[in-house]
Amino acid sequence: MGKTYNIEQKIMAKDTPFLPPYFNIDPDAALAELDLPTETGGFAEIARACAQGRADLASRGLNEEGRKDLRLFSTWEITRYLIPVAQAHFRRVLKQNPDLPQGRSETEGGAKWFTLDEVLRLRAFFGAQGSKAKNYLPYRPAGQPAKMVAVANFKGGVGKTSTAAHLAMSAALDGYRVLVIDLDSQGSMTSIFGGQVEDEWQTAFPLLARHYGEYLRTENQRRLDRGDPPQPLDDALSAAMGMTAQDLIQSTHWPNIDLIGAQLNLYWAEFQVPVWRMQARGWKLWDALTDRLEADGVLDAYDLVFIDTPPALGYLTINGLAAADILLVPLGASFLEFDSTGRFFDMLHSTFASIEEGENVAARALGRPEIGFEWDAVRAVITRYDGAQQGELSGLMQAYLGKVLSPHKQDFTALIGQAGEQVNGIYEADYRDFNRETYARGRETFDATYAAFKRLLLGIWRRGELEAQQAAE
Ligand SMILES: Nc1ncnc2c1ncn2[C@@H]1O[C@H](COP(=O)(O)OP(=O)(O)OP(=O)(O)O)[C@@H](O)[C@H]1O
Ligand SMILES: [Mg+2]
Repeated sequence: MGKTYNIEQKIMAKDTPFLPPYFNIDPDAALAELDLPTETGGFAEIARACAQGRADLASRGLNEEGRKDLRLFSTWEITRYLIPVAQAHFRRVLKQNPDLPQGRSETEGGAKWFTLDEVLRLRAFFGAQGSKAKNYLPYRPAGQPAKMVAVANFKGGVGKTSTAAHLAMSAALDGYRVLVIDLDSQGSMTSIFGGQVEDEWQTAFPLLARHYGEYLRTENQRRLDRGDPPQPLDDALSAAMGMTAQDLIQSTHWPNIDLIGAQLNLYWAEFQVPVWRMQARGWKLWDALTDRLEADGVLDAYDLVFIDTPPALGYLTINGLAAADILLVPLGASFLEFDSTGRFFDMLHSTFASIEEGENVAARALGRPEIGFEWDAVRAVITRYDGAQQGELSGLMQAYLGKVLSPHKQDFTALIGQAGEQVNGIYEADYRDFNRETYARGRETFDATYAAFKRLLLGIWRRGELEAQQAAE
């Protein structure tokens, strides 16, 4: 009430009578400002302008090879966030071991700075030498495969890419080997990691194509056995048959994060996949990504695979979801996002139930075991949280979603999005560019998001480890 009264007073206090801006617009003046109608070609012009601006922005702060550089890490940051030991002890150990990276300082006697590569080497050293009570090296049980994590919601702008990118970076800082797969033809994740992608042949597309091609080959063998003519593989499919995940993986400015990138052409998959499926009803399109990544040894080469998906439940998203062990569904604590996320889960149910049903009709007829999808864990994650405004709604969401809602709410922080063209998110930002408290608060919320995720991950790996031990007994 008080607020309304104040605004009224303010308006009344003005000398000129108040008129909202949408009154008294002169049609002739409006016409004078208007340009010609837009034809299709107009989109191309706009796109060109955007591409130029983007190239200009993206080239700022690149190194001589036109690639991104990752910032350095200071002794303060290392001993506070990455290798939690006393600074004095850290310095002493470095002094005693001249072979270890010694860092560099900008001024005589100033703070020492290290590359992430050097931090990882230091951590390995501390991990081997240090007290057993602190686990400097992140846990991954022997014999357990990498975990694949899909971040998805068909609602746009809920924080999928930000969440996936920050988790990938925190996991990398923690010492895990990370692969990021961008399944969104918008390519935001690819930009964040400085990926260079010419066309769909440098995206995940060839993996899907190869999976289909392999299916056709097996089918053709059956046809030949029956005396039917084989279906020819077109040039594109034949080209895909020789491609592996390693052909698509590129390194990034993070020493332990690799990328399978995306760009606009990846959208083509949404048209191509249903055509293939029409031609071969028995092709299990949803298994394509899982099968190819497994066959190419990706699950041994990495600890974690993060899959960023587009804001749609298309074929690429279905592949990403089917490949995932852990599914994270980001959403804001607003009514509209809660509402549409509920419908997203509904769509997930009907999509996967209809795939299972389709498969199991045949399985039952042939007396084969039925299939069923399974995820190690599914968690909704509140993003861009504003405690002052959204406490009540998030409490309500917690009450309805229970364990499915991750206990940590990721706060809204101005540090995201305003960091700059070459710096993406809190982990790439240099804390000296911010007020320390703003930095610490922003970092805290993403560290807590990672902590909640890591708890989930370790629990899942441990479950797998114990099951494997039991099976071996
Ligand atoms: N914790 C946060 N605090 C403040 N802003 C955030 C936060 N997380 C994300 N944002 C901002 O919200 C916007 C949308 O985030 P993001 O691109 O991650 O969403 P998305 O779900 O991947 O979008 P899309 O559906 O287009 O792929 C971005 O401008 C991002 O900078
Ligand atoms: Mg996104």
